[in-house]
Amino acid sequence: MSRVLLFTGKGGVGKTTLSAATAASLAAHGRKALVVSTDPAHSLGDALDARLGSEPSEVDGSDGLFACQIDPRGLVDEAWGELRGHLRTVLAGAGVDELDAEELTVLPGVEELLALAEVRRLASTGPWEVVVVDCGPTAETLRLLSLPEAFAGYLERLFPTHRRVVRGLLAGVAGTGTVEKWDATADALSRLAERLDALRTMLADPSSCSVRLVLTPERVVAAETRRTLTALALQGIRVDSVIANRLVPSPGAARGAAATWLRTRRHEQDAVLAELTGIGEIRTVDHRASEPVGVPALLEVAEQLYGSEDPLPGAAVPASDVRGSLLEVSGSGRGLDARYSLRIALPLADDTELDLARVGDDLALTVDGRRRLVALPSLLRRCIVTGAEMDSGGVTVGFRPDPALWR
Ligand SMILES: Nc1ncnc2c1ncn2[C@@H]1O[C@H](COP(=O)(O)OP(=O)(O)O)[C@@H](O)[C@H]1O
Ligand SMILES: [Mg+2]
Repeated sequence: MSRVLLFTGKGGVGKTTLSAATAASLAAHGRKALVVSTDPAHSLGDALDARLGSEPSEVDGSDGLFACQIDPRGLVDEAWGELRGHLRTVLAGAGVDELDAEELTVLPGVEELLALAEVRRLASTGPWEVVVVDCGPTAETLRLLSLPEAFAGYLERLFPTHRRVVRGLLAGVAGTGTVEKWDATADALSRLAERLDALRTMLADPSSCSVRLVLTPERVVAAETRRTLTALALQGIRVDSVIANRLVPSPGAARGAAATWLRTRRHEQDAVLAELTGIGEIRTVDHRASEPVGVPALLEVAEQLYGSEDPLPGAAVPASDVRGSLLEVSGSGRGLDARYSLRIALPLADDTELDLARVGDDLALTVDGRRRLVALPSLLRRCIVTGAEMDSGGVTVGFRPDPALWR
């Protein structure tokens, strides 16, 4: 499996430029590197000044850098388009009301997800040491990243029980043709589910996959960045660097209107970056006079971004990064008098809206409207929640033994 670096951030902040620069630099360091765009608004070819296809090809004038852009629309699964139609008729015809047929068949973003699944295929079957991904805008990508989980949820509800139920119902009310159609649909769905499951495993494995978050230092960016970091942490996805792009150069002691403009602008940008303290080191890239297009210009950007360091490991990991250790349990006391606490590490902003609920053996954590189920360690499953406290680094949930379950 290759290392996968996902570049994400809002539209226009420099994802394409910085992912291409990083990949060009990796190749120049002698690594077998591939850069892939999954953003439907493809501009990777423009940044590299090369024509790209949907299969990896070597970029002229690079040190063995390969690139391609995946067209999500072209990737719509062999089965998916047809599958949607089938599912809708089959489910509605079978009177499955506990499952909302509409909800099941409208899976927003499935095309983009398939593009990420394609990235996984390239990363797991190709000769690449590292695959750099130019992703879509943050909100989109985040929604996508949570999809495999949501989708797996749908399928768990549908299979295997419902598969049998629906099949039985159909046999009763419809001809055998419908039953066969349903079987084909169910098979296509489980194949899709397998691919998405593999994708989810890759995304949540910090040793193979990490995110580089790109931002431009403008007002309101600080709060939004924290929110993005929280959302990624909730999904167990490692962020290995935060990159501030398009910092205007400082004019030094120069005088005159242009220098004053630059000084004021830079002052504002520095203030935004100062607000982001606590999330760890932020790498910066200057706003260049001309757009960095083509491998030589991209290598200059990479040099500013990584200096003489290897671009692969990333920056010092932000302190709030979860690194796979989202949960930590500590405790004191004995027997029924014991008190435990569960620390859930998450970068949180002051105005983060947090909601906690116990759902069977899980804790449902809802952060700014995003829900994640956290499986409780067995010890805590036999406990009652006594309270919760939140700070900028996460949530601490208190527990005490449930006398009914404790012995
Ligand atoms: N550091 C920079 N200096 C000057 N221009 C830049 C810089 N970073 C990006 N650009 C330009 O800004 C535009 C948007 O960048 P791009 O990488 O396409 O952003 P995104 O992929 O996030 O939408 C492009 O025209 C790009 O050449
Ligand atoms: Mg782009």
